[in-house]
Amino acid sequence: MKTIHVNTGRSYDILIKHHILDEAGMYIRPLTKAIRAVIVSDTNVAPLYAERVKQSLVKNGFETSVFVFEAGESRKRLSTIEQMYSHFFEHHLTRTDIVVALGGGVTGDMAGFAAASYLRGIDFVQIPTSLLSQVDSSVGGKTGVDLPFGKNLVGAFWQPVLVLIDPETLHTLPEAFFRDGLGEVVKYGCIRSRSLFERLENEQAKDFIDDIIFECVSIKRDVVENDERDTGERAILNFGHTFGHAIEKLENYAGITHGEAVAAGASLLTRISEAHGMTESGTSERLERLLKKYDLPQDSRFSLDEIISATQGDKKSTANSINFVFLKNIGSCYLHKINTVDFKTFFAR
Ligand SMILES: NC(=O)c1ccc[n+]([C@@H]2O[C@H](COP(=O)([O-])OP(=O)(O)OC[C@H]3O[C@@H](n4cnc5c(N)ncnc54)[C@H](O)[C@@H]3O)[C@@H](O)[C@H]2O)c1
Repeated sequence: MKTIHVNTGRSYDILIKHHILDEAGMYIRPLTKAIRAVIVSDTNVAPLYAERVKQSLVKNGFETSVFVFEAGESRKRLSTIEQMYSHFFEHHLTRTDIVVALGGGVTGDMAGFAAASYLRGIDFVQIPTSLLSQVDSSVGGKTGVDLPFGKNLVGAFWQPVLVLIDPETLHTLPEAFFRDGLGEVVKYGCIRSRSLFERLENEQAKDFIDDIIFECVSIKRDVVENDERDTGERAILNFGHTFGHAIEKLENYAGITHGEAVAAGASLLTRISEAHGMTESGTSERLERLLKKYDLPQDSRFSLDEIISATQGDKKSTANSINFVFLKNIGSCYLHKINTVDFKTFFAR
């Protein structure tokens, strides 16, 4: 088993171990006086794994119920949170009980938000089952839901008390979602780990997935420890995201996954920063080659002009500037603020 300790306002461990699902109760028990536990999961993940986690919780003395919602980003809404609250109420959850998020990033973000807000905050555990959630979203305490006019607009910083990662669950993850998660993995290689990037180039990701999870989570831990509330360094995790969100918006959030859009955004941005002499020469070509290897897009069908217009209104933009993450070279990055007045000229060059 690999353990990563996260030292945030509330500190916690991330345990990575095959088949740890069956031992969830054993690892959760010493952390809580909870009598009841609610497992939150979606309609794809619950039939595969909820019973195993439930058995393990029951074995360790938790009265356990399961709340299941329809899978998909479109259900990441306040209405689902309200249903969750009803379930918590009907199952007599108190402030000292516990919520267990079992699923991908949608499940983790929503269960975390419900836990952060129900009775003004109860403990929760993350058991991420998608690649994206195992390498990224289950760590760092960002929770929330989408509103009809934008993604992740309502939420809370609420750290889990424990994260349990079982790489075995990736065997049932549909290929498209695996690829999606790889987009984030490539991101971590780009911004902080040349050695991870090189292994992705030289080997097949599936052959060293445990090392990938460990490396990405370690990087995220370091970044989050330095900037828990996302007021500085944590912004580097948004590499490729400003253009990525713009591309998703232009595609009407259909026909392209988040990971694909981020990959295209990262590639496009790196080409531009390299042309400006702000990124080491040859970096964008190497990034494009790696994205191609993993069947991730290197470009968008929309023009740069269209993408730039769509970036207005991005959450990362302040009144008159947008914070971009540029690669210095493979494995290191920096933040670069561009004034919206200079925006079109910068990207037109
Ligand atoms: N909180 C954060 O820091 C953070 C960071 C990045 C992304 N996110 C959020 O994460 C979400 C995306 O995460 P995601 O891609 O995991 O989405 P998701 O939770 O919708 O999971 C993707 C799909 O895979 C299915 N699935 C998950 N694990 C499975 C398994 N082991 N076997 C079979 N099917 C499985 C799910 O049912 C779903 O259909 C977005 O809402 C995004 O905003 C949050």
